[in-house]
Amino acid sequence: MSWDTVRLEWDGDVATLTVDRPDALNALNIETLEAMGEALEEAAEEGARALVLTGAGDAFIAGADIKYMQDLSTAEGEAWGALGHDVADALEAFPAPTIAAINGYAFGGGCEMAMACDLRVAAESALIGNTEIDLGIIPGWGATQRLPRLVGDETARRMIFLGERLDAESAAEVGLVGEVVADDELEDVIDELATRLASKPAFAMQTAKQAINQTHEGSQESGIAYEKRAFASLFGTHDQREGMSAFVEDREPDFE
Ligand code: CAA
Repeated sequence: MSWDTVRLEWDGDVATLTVDRPDALNALNIETLEAMGEALEEAAEEGARALVLTGAGDAFIAGADIKYMQDLSTAEGEAWGALGHDVADALEAFPAPTIAAINGYAFGGGCEMAMACDLRVAAESALIGNTEIDLGIIPGWGATQRLPRLVGDETARRMIFLGERLDAESAAEVGLVGEVVADDELEDVIDELATRLASKPAFAMQTAKQAINQTHEGSQESGIAYEKRAFASLFGTHDQREGMSAFVEDREPDFE
């Protein structure tokens, strides 16, 4: 299959899924999320032994599409949250190891897609964070659950409460990314890592991944269900409308 805003490319058994909306810094809209879901399904069916997620141009993924979100009702916010979660869950459950190649901005839903991958490698110029608070909402695709697991409770609270935008080195210091490399080395480092992963016994690899994912079961499920309700409930509030209008109109928000 082919899609307008997502590319799925192969190098041997390694599949690379590139979000390709560079004019919007790869912000995720409905079309792109649906395409990502289909591309992940295709990559799994075709037997990928490793999958790389990255973004076209200078950004990884600058988050969920704020222009789309700005007028959503609570019910629409709920459906929107669920669609993003489906993609994040598909990444987490992908039957082979996944690597986020963070080549640039990874904010909000972009950071959340990276967190749903098994491993994260960032280019040194990348900026990463869950910035939703400044739009009058909360992370909606898993960060309230996955971020504390990766960086610890205190750091996750700081990042989400303050909407911090960490540089790659700081993200590595707190454990949000596993490795930082020079911008012009990212592609080679990712190729080498993905090829190494793909060379390992596939069934043992999948089993190891499923076993590690068990640590997320139970409490993650109820936590995600809570996040879904909380995320949806913020659509239609004054601060959500104001935060997103301010972004679109390129001005400072005036929160309640
Ligand atoms: N949604 C929609 N469009 C976006 C976008 C987003 N998340 N991020 C960037 N864009 C668009 C801009 O509107 C702009 O489009 P136009 O040229 O049509 O005006 C284009 O991409 C380039 O962006 P900028 O001009 O802003 O580029 P910049 O280099 O000055 O700034 C940036 C880059 C710092 C990433 C800035 O764009 C930014 O802060 N973006 C928003 C990041 C953010 O808050 N993401 C979280 C979204 S909420 C979320 O993801 C919810 C969730 O949990 C599901």
